[in-house]
Amino acid sequence: MLKPTVNCGELRVTDKDREVVLAGWVSGWRDHGGVVFIDLRDFHGKTQVVFGREKTGLPEKDEKELIEIANSLRNEYVIAVKGIVNLRPEGTRNDKLPTGEIEISARQINLINECAELPFDLKNPDKVGEETRLKYRYLEMRSGKLKESLALRHRFFQSTRNFFADNGFIEVETPFLTRSTPEGARDFLVPSRINPGKFYALPQSPQLFKQLLMIGGIGKYFQIVKCFRDEDLRQDRQPEFTQLDLEMSFIDEEDIKKLLERYIQSVFREVIGVELEIPFKRLSYSEAMDRYGTDKPDLRIPLEIINITDLASNSSFKVFSSAASCGVVKGLKIPDADEISLSVINKTTEEIQSLGAKGLAWMRHKKDGLHSPITKFFSEEELKEISSRFDTRRGDIIFFIADTEQVVGACLDYLRRTFGKPSENVFMPLWIEDYPLFEKDDAGNPTPMHHPFTSPRSGEEELLEKEPFAVKSKAYDMVLNGAEIGGGSIRIHSPVLQNRVFKILNITEEKARQKFGFLLQALSFGAPPHGGFAFGVDRLVACMLGINSIREVIPFPKTRRAYSPLTGSPSDVDKEQLDEIGIRIVDFKKD
Ligand code: AMO
Ligand code: AMP
Repeated sequence: MLKPTVNCGELRVTDKDREVVLAGWVSGWRDHGGVVFIDLRDFHGKTQVVFGREKTGLPEKDEKELIEIANSLRNEYVIAVKGIVNLRPEGTRNDKLPTGEIEISARQINLINECAELPFDLKNPDKVGEETRLKYRYLEMRSGKLKESLALRHRFFQSTRNFFADNGFIEVETPFLTRSTPEGARDFLVPSRINPGKFYALPQSPQLFKQLLMIGGIGKYFQIVKCFRDEDLRQDRQPEFTQLDLEMSFIDEEDIKKLLERYIQSVFREVIGVELEIPFKRLSYSEAMDRYGTDKPDLRIPLEIINITDLASNSSFKVFSSAASCGVVKGLKIPDADEISLSVINKTTEEIQSLGAKGLAWMRHKKDGLHSPITKFFSEEELKEISSRFDTRRGDIIFFIADTEQVVGACLDYLRRTFGKPSENVFMPLWIEDYPLFEKDDAGNPTPMHHPFTSPRSGEEELLEKEPFAVKSKAYDMVLNGAEIGGGSIRIHSPVLQNRVFKILNITEEKARQKFGFLLQALSFGAPPHGGFAFGVDRLVACMLGINSIREVIPFPKTRRAYSPLTGSPSDVDKEQLDEIGIRIVDFKKD
């Protein structure tokens, strides 16, 4: 078999007259009256190979055979070709291709493998459904966007490892077969054959182990690691995903933020050649919720929410005044909104109703001021005040939502993302800080806003039992273009404080010992103050590429139903396998 001496992306004019061997896949085939042109593709690029344009000097029989094989080639056949690098004739050069100035004049060919009928045109994978693309992911990866994403992901890993190693971190692996590590999702459980009836949990994150590493004196740890969470999937969530996880001892929030700003600056520079300014903007959680309705605002969109609850409470528009008495009324101005027609407003109303809103009120600034079916409920002064608060101009529209703080925020965030037009190729990272330590669960009880190992803000510990919801935490998230790309905190390093937090979370002493006894014990053996962070690598890489769905940057992702069309997993297993681990499948409802 001919073995490649060069790849399909590297030959240039300066290689003229070299004898080379290339191997790869036929990605295009043309017969121009007896002269056959092949585009030969591998991971690195494409090179044109020509058969029969010039005399090869081969015996006639061999030359005939060469052309015959060339004629039998079809797309995605695997071949190796030996030939001479020639300059392409004037007028036939292709400046879109890095190898577009040369071609290979073939002297010898090995037809290594044929290709069955393809399930889709590899040049247009977007033309088929995602399920088909995922089923044949290895075909999609031969060319195009996915290959570029994987190459960028590789450069991201290299650059990341270099940065952390250069800054004194060491990469340590933590186990996958472990105990539950709570991060707010369900665990994936793995039955143990050797310990019948017992289960491992796949880690939702390496959180507990990285804290143990700090107690073990490791000082600065990082890891690029798979995490597993059984949660409902969306475009930014996968059941297994990759974190860049890190932890440091004897540091505070500022140290971590400064280090991670330098890291993000360096990785953007090295991987995509973008220069980011540091320090990043910072917003408190409550300010982000007030101004953008979300704790992951896309700052590329310049629109901000305006509160008019005070105005609304005196208005004769019942929808507003009654909401103002027990909730809030807020609005968002969309400038130059002529294209937002009545039918768009009706469709949008239906969309925000699915977020809990009861309706969508609006006012449009026309030639002579604000117009809307509801302006009749407002006095001239009130309309002027609204126009001035939102600073409206002709062509602008204001959307209003009257409801609870939560519903209003979610809806206006949705409207901001729907009608705001973020500029492409712009990156606007920011920190969200000053998170509350707890939020309310469905029953109104405290549940961690991040995870139960997050430290309360210094000086606020005494409020823990009395006013748990008033306590702020030492947690911080990094947000980029509307995606939460990472989060972290300073941890609790006192076993006494950790136990108090467990108690507030209604985790009894016995349960705490049972689930986290090893952590509590470790904390009692001289735990250093420590804190850290974890980036969602898939989200970060997708952001760098300007892609919305993380599935596009994961080599073998699952569908929204957590299913792999490629391997057919999850799948049924043999009865013998189940018997060995003592599991019997009972009837369960399939939906
Ligand atoms: P957190 O739960 O915020 O923190 O996770 C860190 C980051 O991981 C990404 N992420 C996900 N990406 C894809 N699919 C998912 N299902 C998914 N879930 C999370 C997000 C998120 O910001 N142990 C803490 C970190 C710490 O405190 O140091 C943790 O895991 O980008
Ligand atoms: P109604 O009085 O219910 O006919 O509503 C009049 C207008 O106010 C309609 O455009 C509704 O969509 C809108 N609306 C109703 N409820 C709300 C609400 N809670 N917040 C904002 N607009 C609303």
